[in-house]
Amino acid sequence: MNTKFKRTLVTAALPYANGPVHIGHLAGCYLPSDIYVRYLRSIGHDVKFICGSDEHGVPITIKAKKENISPQAVVDKYHKIMGDSFKGFGISFDIYSRTSSKIHHQTASDFFKVLYEKNSFTEQVTEQYYDEAAQQFLADRYIIGTCPKCSNINAYGDQCEQCGSTLSPTDLINPKSTLSGAEPVLKQTKNWFLPLDKLQPKIKSYLEKHSDWKSNVFGQCKSWLDTGDGLQPRAMTRDLNWGVPVPIKGADGKVLYVWFDAPIGYISATKELLPDTWQDYWKKDDTRLIHFIGKDNIVFHCIIFPAMLMEHGDFVLAENVPANEFLNLEGEKISTSRNWAVWLHEYLKEFKDKQDALRYSLCANAPETKDNDFTWKDFQTKNNSELVAIFGNFINRTLVLTHKFYNGNVPEAKTFSALDLEALKSLAEAPDKISAAIQQFKFREAITEWMNLARIGNKYLAETEPWKLIKTDEERVKTIMNVALQISCNLAILAEPFLPFTSIKLFNLLNIKPINWNHAKQTNNVPHPHLINKDELLFSKIEDSEIEYQLQKLQKSKIMNENIKDAQAIKTETSFDEFSKMDIRTATILEAEAVPKTDKLLKLLLDTGIDKRTVVSGIAKYYNPKDIIGQQVCLLANLSPRIIKGIESKGMILMSENIDGELSFVSPVKANVSNGSTIK
Ligand code: MF3
Ligand code: ZN
Repeated sequence: MNTKFKRTLVTAALPYANGPVHIGHLAGCYLPSDIYVRYLRSIGHDVKFICGSDEHGVPITIKAKKENISPQAVVDKYHKIMGDSFKGFGISFDIYSRTSSKIHHQTASDFFKVLYEKNSFTEQVTEQYYDEAAQQFLADRYIIGTCPKCSNINAYGDQCEQCGSTLSPTDLINPKSTLSGAEPVLKQTKNWFLPLDKLQPKIKSYLEKHSDWKSNVFGQCKSWLDTGDGLQPRAMTRDLNWGVPVPIKGADGKVLYVWFDAPIGYISATKELLPDTWQDYWKKDDTRLIHFIGKDNIVFHCIIFPAMLMEHGDFVLAENVPANEFLNLEGEKISTSRNWAVWLHEYLKEFKDKQDALRYSLCANAPETKDNDFTWKDFQTKNNSELVAIFGNFINRTLVLTHKFYNGNVPEAKTFSALDLEALKSLAEAPDKISAAIQQFKFREAITEWMNLARIGNKYLAETEPWKLIKTDEERVKTIMNVALQISCNLAILAEPFLPFTSIKLFNLLNIKPINWNHAKQTNNVPHPHLINKDELLFSKIEDSEIEYQLQKLQKSKIMNENIKDAQAIKTETSFDEFSKMDIRTATILEAEAVPKTDKLLKLLLDTGIDKRTVVSGIAKYYNPKDIIGQQVCLLANLSPRIIKGIESKGMILMSENIDGELSFVSPVKANVSNGSTIK
């Protein structure tokens, strides 16, 4: 490792607090960063590991509106869920902070002021859509309209989800504000831009010094610089009311751009962690700053944030940004909105104490150089055929035989045969191979090397056959079992960055206090005399039924998504005459009771203003009979009567159905609409 650096600051992308975290997050960013940091700690290097929730930005305000709660309530909820998931998987942040905190607002605000006072920004007046009813400027996502390319009537101001085109709000035909439904008007607004075009030469020379970065990262940076006219100025403030307020006069109703404040979150969190010494980690040349991120974050960490830091001055710039590509799930892109994901908090409940099984399979299959696919079958195979059958099997045989032959007393190794020496040589060489791979951010290779050591252990036992030799050559067996125990112990040391839960368990079985990486080349870490603990299985098989269950869960998401699509498609055109045949009226529920032997149906007595009649309705799952007496509803009154469960039902109550298939009554908004009023 480069000895120029005395300390390392590792950051992991601050995840958006608008949903829980899934396996894609873990594989792309949090697992590799955790492995890296645990490794550095294990070699005794000074390292700090920083993360937290990214709690600003438009999607959070949209989520809040949808759920009818405040943005703060949204981020409080997900900050907790995400933090618990990371903890559950042993992601060993030194701090997991959040950007809605006071210290962050202060830090981001001060940072902006420094740049403002240095005249780093350019002021630009642009025309933005404004909602006069809601009296606010509209972020791109708050505007919908017809896509000029494919005529989808529900395209967003930044993108059409039907044809995938990138749009700007003024491209939309018939734009509407999602806040009030009103047609937005263009209004002038002033914002502060970072002139990336002018900063391009500085950024270029910074990047050129780092042509050793992963090729997926370096390639993307180069294409930002070289495509078209190169970098363009980018607004660092936005007209929005959720975020860090812009700390200058005349900027009311404006906040810092979320991609301006979020990376400053790394600095605020370091301050919070180390109030006295944080500057050592950000301002000293012998600090190495490493950002772990997913590929959609590259431009922000390799171009925009460094540009901000350069403009500010004093700060170190990232030494490396080992971004990963994406992880797909069962052949499809992971999607939060389509619920196509494996959620970490659910995994932790469904696979209790199996965190390392997922850590192993995600690391062995990490999307380091290209997008990769996670499948449940592959997960099962990695667990059953590698963790159980290779590593677990080796450890188990070693411990069981030590108990069987020596009641758990570690035997002494006296003379070594060629086979023993070969095994010990592989053992001594393993740490450097694994270190080298980790230092180059090749975590797949690193974990493969680790598993290879377990393979060597298995081969060694298979070739030396201590269970046979015990009858003929007791002295040899002592050496063999000692060597096998040494391999086991070093596997525990080397497992720590990857499989921390297993590492602790294994040290415990060996009755040895955890030892760090600096001892991993030694082949005598298990002392003699020494008593090991009773053996216990480290990994258990994952059954087909567990995999089936997970696949079915995904299948359900798929069906649900198709239903949503169907529901969104507008039915074929109909005429007003056809529509007029429907006699729809208001009515009030007088009585309600469950229909015996069904769980879906309620029998209702309705006052239609003209008559009192019985209607059977499939709403029992959503409404309690006693809660709906007096509820006003809409009734299709001239539907031909039907016999349902032996009851004659005259008409049908109209219900609205949400994404989850839950039904709600539709009723007049003004209170004094009398029963029998027509709906047209
Ligand atoms: N919230 C962003 C995402 O999930 C990442 C922000 S990283 C930071 O993609 F640098 F801005 F903090
Ligand atoms: Zn379109």
